[in-house]
Amino acid sequence: MGEFVVRGGRRLAGAVRINGAKNAALPIMAASLLSKRPVIVRDVPEIRDVSVMVEVLRALGVKVEREGSTVVIDAALIKECRVPDALMQEMRASVFVMGPLLARLGRTEIVHPGGCAIGDRPIDLHLKGFEALGAEVRDELQGTVVLANRLVGAEIHLAFPSVGATENLIMAAALAEGETRIRNAAMEPEVVDLAQFLSRMGVTVRGAGTPEIRVVGCPELGAADHTVIPDRIETATFALAVASAGGAVRLLNCVPDHLPGLWQQLRDLGVEVKCEGDQVAITAAHAYAPHSVTVNTGPYPGFATDIQAQFMAFLLKVPGIHLVSERVFENRLGHVTEFRRLGAHIIADQRLAVVYGGQHLYGASVSAKDLRAGAALVVAGLQIEGSTRIAHREIIERGYHDLDGRLRSLGADIISA
Ligand code: EPZ
Repeated sequence: MGEFVVRGGRRLAGAVRINGAKNAALPIMAASLLSKRPVIVRDVPEIRDVSVMVEVLRALGVKVEREGSTVVIDAALIKECRVPDALMQEMRASVFVMGPLLARLGRTEIVHPGGCAIGDRPIDLHLKGFEALGAEVRDELQGTVVLANRLVGAEIHLAFPSVGATENLIMAAALAEGETRIRNAAMEPEVVDLAQFLSRMGVTVRGAGTPEIRVVGCPELGAADHTVIPDRIETATFALAVASAGGAVRLLNCVPDHLPGLWQQLRDLGVEVKCEGDQVAITAAHAYAPHSVTVNTGPYPGFATDIQAQFMAFLLKVPGIHLVSERVFENRLGHVTEFRRLGAHIIADQRLAVVYGGQHLYGASVSAKDLRAGAALVVAGLQIEGSTRIAHREIIERGYHDLDGRLRSLGADIISA
């Protein structure tokens, strides 16, 4: 169990390149199972979750070669239809192979994925969608088995615009006979990137990025060469690191439009934000005028749940009373207890936090409860003069490549211990 040690109080300066999006790369790598032709996926982040997806694909009998951020996947032969239990339990995103395996082999099996730190993470919407396409779902001792002799296009209405369910169902529909219409679909940029990749393989996907997506199945898919979109969550994490530490940093390889609302909120609080093509220049004061802020997370284009913790870390520095409402996951305020160890004054239940910003914070030993909560502790540590020790560094490294090295290149005092 490693840790990050952050000694804050230093302003950041320089430029940092944003990597490809973890949450686009993972479904796209799974979607490669739909084609018997090799695919090339570029700017895939070099993080633990991608390595696990590579292991999952190889365990299914798929050839995967990885060189730096480029991954070549050849799924001509698939020998297995069950995700190895250990890999499923290590990374929930392994659930993304269900749709492609069902479409390709007519069968997929996974151990019950179980919950995680931020919530129960059920997959009922995925399974209901598979049934609408003609599959049979069996709950067996060894896990969930989904079977289908053939998949036929259908109309599916999602009770919640689930990102994973939308992506899994687009992939299953890619080989189904006829057209599938998914209503109340997730509109996240990562869904759009997956649709772009599938279009390159020969699938007709219309409406990605809107609440209604139509997929026309295609019996045989071709090869593809695709570059993953920049990671908007990493973009926001670095922007909030600068807002928290103070300084002037240029973020390279961004899509500013993928973070609707964040930039104006930062500007309202006194952070200078300049969006210039694929770059965002952030200039932050060392102190902020009193302000009170309300944040409600929600499906895209609402405030992204994946930056809620990091934004709260920044709000610790803004004098005022802030209301943070987590409306996507039922238990995604685990970072509050850790912020309190740093001297933060926060009242919270599982979904709602009242944050008294501007309190004096001090360095302490804290623990990463989940990926984004861990990143938020780094963001908070950057504003604290003392030394903050963040345990379970490996949880943060699941989703961020070389976070400490890249922050050091901007002048932060952070080491891996
Ligand atoms: C994706 O998870 C992301 N993960 C998450 O990012 C992100 O927080 C989430 O979307 C929301 O944007 C990947 O893309 C790998 P959901 P996913 O299905 O697909 C409920 C990170 O930090 N739900 O949109 O699992 C669910 O319980 C990770 O990078 C059902 O009830 O999210 C949750 O409350 C964390 N039944 C809500 O929907 C279902 O069948 C949103 O979940 C599916 C979901």
